[in-house]
Amino acid sequence: MHNNAGRAISQDIAHHVHPQSNLRQHAEKGPTMITHGKGVFIYDTEGREIIDGFSGLGCVSLGYHNERLAEAAVRQMNTLPFAPTFYNRSHPSVAELGERLTGLAPNGMNRVMFQCSGSEANDTAIKLLWYTNTAKGEPKRRKIIGRVRGYHGNTVATVSLSGQPHMHAKFGLPLPEFKHTELPNYYRFHVDGESEEEFSARMAAHFEQLVLSEGPETIAAFFAEPAISGGGALMPPKGYWEEMQAVLKKYEIKFLADEVVCGFGRTGNMWGSETWGLKPDMVSCAKALSAAFFPISALMFKDEMYADMMKNSDEVGVFGHGYTYAGHPVGAAVSLEALNIYDEIDLVGHVRKVSQTFLANCQALNDHPLVAEVRGVGLFCGFELMKDAKKREPFDPSWKVGELVQNFAHDRGLYLRAIGDRISFMPPLIINEEEIGIATSRFKQALDDAWAVVRTRI
Ligand SMILES: Cc1ncc(COP(=O)(O)O)c(C=O)c1O
Repeated sequence: MHNNAGRAISQDIAHHVHPQSNLRQHAEKGPTMITHGKGVFIYDTEGREIIDGFSGLGCVSLGYHNERLAEAAVRQMNTLPFAPTFYNRSHPSVAELGERLTGLAPNGMNRVMFQCSGSEANDTAIKLLWYTNTAKGEPKRRKIIGRVRGYHGNTVATVSLSGQPHMHAKFGLPLPEFKHTELPNYYRFHVDGESEEEFSARMAAHFEQLVLSEGPETIAAFFAEPAISGGGALMPPKGYWEEMQAVLKKYEIKFLADEVVCGFGRTGNMWGSETWGLKPDMVSCAKALSAAFFPISALMFKDEMYADMMKNSDEVGVFGHGYTYAGHPVGAAVSLEALNIYDEIDLVGHVRKVSQTFLANCQALNDHPLVAEVRGVGLFCGFELMKDAKKREPFDPSWKVGELVQNFAHDRGLYLRAIGDRISFMPPLIINEEEIGIATSRFKQALDDAWAVVRTRI
């Protein structure tokens, strides 16, 4: 065990309250304590070397060690460690990042605001929609539609927009202005004989019904991840985005593409919006923007929205929104260097190349008795675990089969994430073919371990 491991674990149990964690389990068993990382590997206090098949939280695009990012941070810290972006003040790193990022963005985004997290980027988007609808003389256009199992953050507004029941329970949420349309999980929810295209049309029809029943004139926007991440690595079914965007267009509903996970190469293109032909009005991104070496996020939008903001700012005298650390110089400098690296190593090209092996190895696991469906793109893959794949009969939730697989994978040296009985597998984008081979064979072993337990119960 690592030298001070025992001490760190007791300090953690005694004082540190963990987000998105089982608090009882933490009190009784303590944390998994990660001490360091290199490349795609993380190391725990037990001395285990673990391939991070979840990229931290879908963010560590360049792995756990990068001299250039560290040097960019130190350089900036030694030059200008902090500068506010309030009160018409700026600094060169954030100005350059604004230009670089809007230059990369999908669908003509020309304006950017910076924050420190995906939640804050999406929360800012909600506020800007409300703000600009007031400028347009439509103050009642306030409802925001998300999706069941969608994930957009943890502020009061973004968690309301997210469709995660465990994040609403006991908090008295969601707030009333936030609505949810159906989860497009074709495998689980198609009716017998229904094609993917028919299923997608049904999802869009449900969305249209929701729009009509709420009143299109009351709806400010629809927010969606190009592929659902926190809800279980769910790829959109065929035709889904065409059908959904037709409804958005018909009722002139604004669309925010939440690229917090999909952005910067995860799906084999710079943006998930490119992978699935999305035409958003706003884009949020975070995580891989700085390769997760520094907390920074961005919300991008079009000049028209900026013009409406200007109108209100003229009337009030100020645009009354912002965070102390918005456009932090160190975050901006690290992000600029991350974007340089992405360019130089052609990260997107690398993802496209290695994803062939990744996805083929993942597909090969579809034959496993625990696995009902495998679907992925780029370095992003979801696995549906079911008792009976053909009949689509789920396991008893109390068996916690997903968690079992996740725990066995950890023991085998692979970190994966179970979301109920779905497994999300999304390794760092720099992973190479050999590491993919090791990771997927460890996954297979973990499935075998879990099957040895589960088969005795069936
Ligand atoms: C798609 C998506 N949007 C927003 C967020 C919230 O980002 P953060 O945790 O940085 O607030 C997440 C977090 O995982 C996410 O997956």
